[in-house]
Amino acid sequence: MALLTRKATLLLMVLVLTFLAICEAKITVSISNFLAEEYEDEVKLDLNVHCKSKDDDLGPHVLSFLEGYEFRFNPNIWRTTLFHCTMAWPSHFHHFVIYDQSRDGGCILNDSQCIWRVIESGPCKLETLPNRTEIWDSHPWNN
Ligand SMILES: *[C@@H]1O[C@H](CO)[C@@H](O)[C@H](O)[C@H]1NC(C)=O
Ligand SMILES: *[C@@H]1O[C@H](CO)[C@@H](O)[C@H](O)[C@H]1NC(C)=O
Repeated sequence: MALLTRKATLLLMVLVLTFLAICEAKITVSISNFLAEEYEDEVKLDLNVHCKSKDDDLGPHVLSFLEGYEFRFNPNIWRTTLFHCTMAWPSHFHHFVIYDQSRDGGCILNDSQCIWRVIESGPCKLETLPNRTEIWDSHPWNN
C-alpha cells in the first residue's frame, strides 16, 4: 500500500512538472508601426504604445514609422493572461487587447509569436493559413 502511494505520488509529481514545463513556454508579442497617411506627400506618423496586464505596466513606447517593439511573458496556467494597450497618434486614441490567452492561446506562429502591424483601421496579426500561406489578418480597434 505504501509503495503504491509512493508510486502514485511520483507519477503525480512527473505530471505536474511536465505541465509546468509546457506552461513555461514564453510568448513574444511584437508590435510594429505601419501608420502612414496619404496626403500630397505621404506622412509617416509616430505611434505611441502603452501596454499593461493586470500585474505589469510595460510603460510608454514611441515607435517611429516601421519601428517595432516587443515584449515577452509566460502565460499563466489558468489561461487568463491578458495584455491590453493604448495606441495613439495625432488626433487618434484607441484601445486594443493585444494578447488574450483564451483567444490567442500559445499564439499561432511557431507556438510562441504574436506579430502585429498597426495601421489606421486597427492592428493586423500575422497568421498562417492551413496551406501555409501567411496573411495579415486585420482586427478592428476595441474602441
Ligand atoms: C517559424 O519557424 C520556421 C521554421 O523553424 C521559420 O522558418 C520561421 O521563420 C518561423 N517564423 C517566425 C515568424 O519566426
Ligand atoms: C491558400 O488559401 C487561401 C485561402 O483559402 C487562398 O486565398 C490562397 O490562394 C491559397 N494559397 C495557395 C498558395 O494555395
